[in-house]
Amino acid sequence: MLEDVEKILVSQEDLAKRVEQLGQEITKDYAGQEILMIGVLRGAAIFMADLSRAIKVPVALDFMAVSSYGHSTSSSGVVRIIKDLDEDVKGKHVLIVEDIIDSGLTLKYLIDYIKSRDPQSVKICTLLNKPDRRKVEVPIAYNGFTIPDYFVVGFGLDYAEKYRNLPFIGILKPEIYSH
Ligand code: IMP
Ligand code: MG
Repeated sequence: MLEDVEKILVSQEDLAKRVEQLGQEITKDYAGQEILMIGVLRGAAIFMADLSRAIKVPVALDFMAVSSYGHSTSSSGVVRIIKDLDEDVKGKHVLIVEDIIDSGLTLKYLIDYIKSRDPQSVKICTLLNKPDRRKVEVPIAYNGFTIPDYFVVGFGLDYAEKYRNLPFIGILKPEIYSH
């Protein structure tokens, strides 16, 4: 796995520090409230596990799965729900947790979908933000790191379901996905 990584973009230590800071910020912003965290499977699972433990107000956890890129590295623009919510979002403070926002198409779809179910509030927390390829604007309340337009893996992010368990964010060698 390691030999497929060109460079470490965000170290394990920097990830841990930033997740802790985000948790503190969220704890302050939601003081006296409860949060329904909705993770976007599968990439956000690892970030959500750490982030939820850095938040000191009560949280409930739910997950959604939407169609992803499959084995390609760019968005098809088509979003399909593979796994719907188990919790009722009506009247809740929803925090959508995403691994990375690239084109923004996935999040745009999800935020509209969740808003149509009448939550009290909806905010987005993303570990990574790749603004160079944005096609639709999405309001990001909490952002871990803004990164340049590289295809990255690790800490939940995959290429063809591999590399999710790397403890850092690394740039994948282009020859891995260019054939
Ligand atoms: P968007 O709809 O283009 O914003 O895509 C968001 C989704 O694409 C993320 O949840 C990831 O699953 C995937 N994605 C986008 N960029 C990368 C990347 O650099 N590495 C791994 N997955 C990515
Ligand atoms: Mg993915």
